[in-house]
Amino acid sequence: MPRSLSILSVCALVSSAFAQFNTSYLHYYGSSTYPNVSRNSTDGDRNYRAPEFPILGWAQYKNNPIMGPSNNSWESKYLFNPAAAVVDDKVFLLYRAQNESLISSIGLAWSYDGYNFTRYNQPVFFPTEPYERNGTEDPRLVRVNGTFYMTYTGFNGSQAQLCMATSENLVNWQKHGPILPYSTDVLYHPEENYNHAREGWSKSGAIAPEKVNGLYQMQWGDSYLYTANSTDLIHWNYTRNDIPFAQRIHDWEFGLMESAGPLIKTRSGKHWIKFYNGVGQGFGGYKFGQYSTGQMLVDLENAPRGPPVARMELPILQPVFTAGQVSNVLFSEATVQFKGKWFTYYGEGDAYLGTATAPVQD
Ligand SMILES: *[C@@H]1O[C@H](CO)[C@@H](O)[C@H](O)[C@H]1NC(C)=O
Ligand SMILES: *[C@@H]1O[C@H](CO)[C@@H](O)[C@H](O)[C@H]1NC(C)=O
Ligand SMILES: *[C@@H]1O[C@H](CO)[C@@H](O)[C@H](O)[C@H]1NC(C)=O
Ligand SMILES: *[C@@H]1O[C@H](CO)[C@@H](O)[C@H](O)[C@H]1NC(C)=O
Ligand SMILES: *[C@@H]1O[C@H](CO)[C@@H](O)[C@H](O)[C@H]1NC(C)=O
Ligand SMILES: *[C@@H]1O[C@H](CO)[C@@H](O)[C@H](O)[C@H]1NC(C)=O
Ligand SMILES: *[C@@H]1O[C@H](CO)[C@@H](O)[C@H](O)[C@H]1NC(C)=O
Ligand SMILES: *[C@@H]1O[C@H](CO)[C@@H](O)[C@H](O)[C@H]1NC(C)=O
Ligand SMILES: *[C@@H]1O[C@H](CO)[C@@H](O)[C@H](O)[C@H]1NC(C)=O
Ligand SMILES: *[C@@H]1O[C@H](CO)[C@@H](O)[C@H](O)[C@H]1NC(C)=O
Ligand SMILES: *[C@@H]1O[C@H](CO)[C@@H](O)[C@H](O)[C@H]1NC(C)=O
Repeated sequence: MPRSLSILSVCALVSSAFAQFNTSYLHYYGSSTYPNVSRNSTDGDRNYRAPEFPILGWAQYKNNPIMGPSNNSWESKYLFNPAAAVVDDKVFLLYRAQNESLISSIGLAWSYDGYNFTRYNQPVFFPTEPYERNGTEDPRLVRVNGTFYMTYTGFNGSQAQLCMATSENLVNWQKHGPILPYSTDVLYHPEENYNHAREGWSKSGAIAPEKVNGLYQMQWGDSYLYTANSTDLIHWNYTRNDIPFAQRIHDWEFGLMESAGPLIKTRSGKHWIKFYNGVGQGFGGYKFGQYSTGQMLVDLENAPRGPPVARMELPILQPVFTAGQVSNVLFSEATVQFKGKWFTYYGEGDAYLGTATAPVQD
């Protein structure tokens, strides 16, 4: 929890078998220390090249999954849904892990090649506050002026609220609490073709890490996408019962749309690429409840509150793993450029962590 569709009592989504998945490449590399990151740490890949829309040529890594649960009790049940940042020539992941009671904490891992990760044995983030007592879930990460801003879901047993935390070293975090406390979201009920209002269910948000016209922009929500803006990344302005930033159009995204990783500025500097997750409804070749990842092009200068100026018709990544805690889920929250490739990191079946790569455009 919370995976929105589970509220629709879709029992068929849940499977206990880990079929069709070869975990023989999984290795556990644990560490009792971690690399020191500070305000002075370098940002991004040293040969970074900004992309043009769309980023194509994605291939899922043949030895997925690259991470899974371990004997550490806090991450012993499932491990999935990571945020990522390239810092000091390494990829860092902040990943969601569940213990045997399905309470989520967030762990830290790092890699020199983008595939082979060493993890810190202790969680770096875990429930301490009432609004997150049933889990700190699904991190997304941007770094601005040497500070990491992590949006995550605080789950209190009934509400999945979008929360903010900040850090300079990825290990010690300051919590800022729920950032959209009076928002409304809607849940689409396909059998009635009707949207039910969900008070306070803000769940997730992805940020463009640069001010445009004096404001940071974010798209949030777990149904349509909605917008919020900020001058300091901590306090966010939004409108209750707002007009959505983007409507569901394509078959693969007709159940709901939810942000993937932070926005990526295009080479021209005029637009931003937004990766997002969509859910199928059992038509168009997409299974009911299937999560896939696609891309849209966003104009924050002229249309910060939507709609997107373009989107791909088809997803770039679809689940290959049909079992897990929740079947047919490929859920991404991070796309970074590292050593000549784009890496998207994602959860597979809400149970394992995988990656896909695409070439950097010339
Ligand atoms: C899983 O991968 C290992 C290593 O390549 C291989 O030996 C094994 O046959 C594979 N298992 C299945 C079921 O494909
Ligand atoms: C990290 O910083 C601590 C304290 O400054 C130092 O003791 C430790 O050696 C550093 N570790 C690495 C890997 O640089
Ligand atoms: C960052 O760099 C400044 C200037 O070189 C230095 O004074 C400071 O100690 C460094 N901070 C850390 C945490 O390494
Ligand atoms: C768990 O611990 C056992 C016994 O030490 C070890 O053989 C196994 O590889 C460990 N598994 C994981 C996923 O860490
Ligand atoms: C899971 O974590 C929660 C929160 O820390 C804790 O209360 C619970 O006892 C843990 N469950 C197990 C089985 O360790
Ligand atoms: C992965 O990283 C670990 C820890 O640095 C190292 O021991 C291991 O050899 C690496 N494995 C591969 C396949 O690169
Ligand atoms: C969760 O938080 C919401 C918003 O503050 C509150 O209305 C609700 O009662 C809380 N639920 C539980 C089970 O604490
Ligand atoms: C949330 O956590 C509380 C306190 O640990 C527990 O009583 C409750 O059953 C949990 N709710 C859910 C939906 O897991
Ligand atoms: C929110 O909007 C109001 C009215 O425009 C403004 O006064 C306030 O500074 C804004 N707050 C943030 C955090 O951007
Ligand atoms: C980061 O620094 C820039 C340039 O000084 C400034 O415009 C911006 O407001 C800062 N952002 C935050 C979140 O502090
Ligand atoms: C910022 O958010 C407020 C509240 O939703 C909205 O009224 C305003 O138009 C937004 N401004 C921009 C530039 O997005």
